Amino acid sequence: MMTAPLLRLESLSKSFGQVTVARDLALSLGPGEALGIVGPNGAGKSSLFAMISGDLRPDAGTVWLDGRDVTGVPPHARTRAGIGRTYQVPRPFTHLTVFENVLVCAHQGAGLHGKQAWSQAMDVLERTGLADLANTAAGRLTLLQRKRLEVARALGTGPRLLLLDEVAGGLTEPEVAELVEVIRRLHADGLGIVWIEHVVHALVKTVARMICLAGGDVVADGEPVAVLADAKVRELYLGGGPESGTAEEGP
Ligand SMILES: Nc1ncnc2c1ncn2[C@@H]1O[C@H](COP(=O)(O)OP(=O)(O)OP(=O)(O)O)[C@@H](O)[C@H]1O
Ligand SMILES: [Mg+2]
Repeated sequence: MMTAPLLRLESLSKSFGQVTVARDLALSLGPGEALGIVGPNGAGKSSLFAMISGDLRPDAGTVWLDGRDVTGVPPHARTRAGIGRTYQVPRPFTHLTVFENVLVCAHQGAGLHGKQAWSQAMDVLERTGLADLANTAAGRLTLLQRKRLEVARALGTGPRLLLLDEVAGGLTEPEVAELVEVIRRLHADGLGIVWIEHVVHALVKTVARMICLAGGDVVADGEPVAVLADAKVRELYLGGGPESGTAEEGP
């Protein structure tokens, strides 16, 4: 028997007035696959995540998780079903500690209680390199630490599919390298990952497949180096210069 893809988007369409963020879009992700998404600002990347996580209802089309139609399923139930996401603008509870922030996600997102929630939260802090900061208030973290916490909060919900929205933006190069290591390890542990990122070289080090979104369409899909070399992608996204595609940072 064929196993169902972890995620499948079928004929997904969504417009905000004149702005089309998804146009009859199709995409499939196997269990444990890592996919990178690039595309110009306003391409519809974050909107796509919102449709996968349930924050945004598509105008038409279907979102399948493990072969189950989850299009009408509300966000909290999709979290329980195994979809964890970060937000482009981090959303920690600033007055809670790092540990408490992740514990809340283990409670609310994964439905764990007591010792199980506690050990899931500790495990996530270890995996994201935040264990030493467990008792620090989230509001006191540096940008890199906040980005790590955003990943940790998504992991706290116990996902099989992790959606990362620009977690490397604004970091220094050594910090990007640290974050790449964290995400590579999560992928090696078998997690399915979709990562939207303007820091393209971080994606290239992490994913085996990349798509480029523009105007609600998938304009390229394939091996990252090939996608970045694609003439349409270079024109749309990277400006077409000879140096493009190695270390681009979005605005
Ligand atoms: N709730 C909304 N209501 C109206 N328009 C929206 C809404 N959400 C997004 N848009 C518009 O849809 C388009 C795509 O937005 P989206 O945030 O998905 O882009 P993006 O690819 O994530 O861009 P960026 O790289 O800047 O994060 C933009 O023109 C945006 O203004
Ligand atoms: Mg976005």
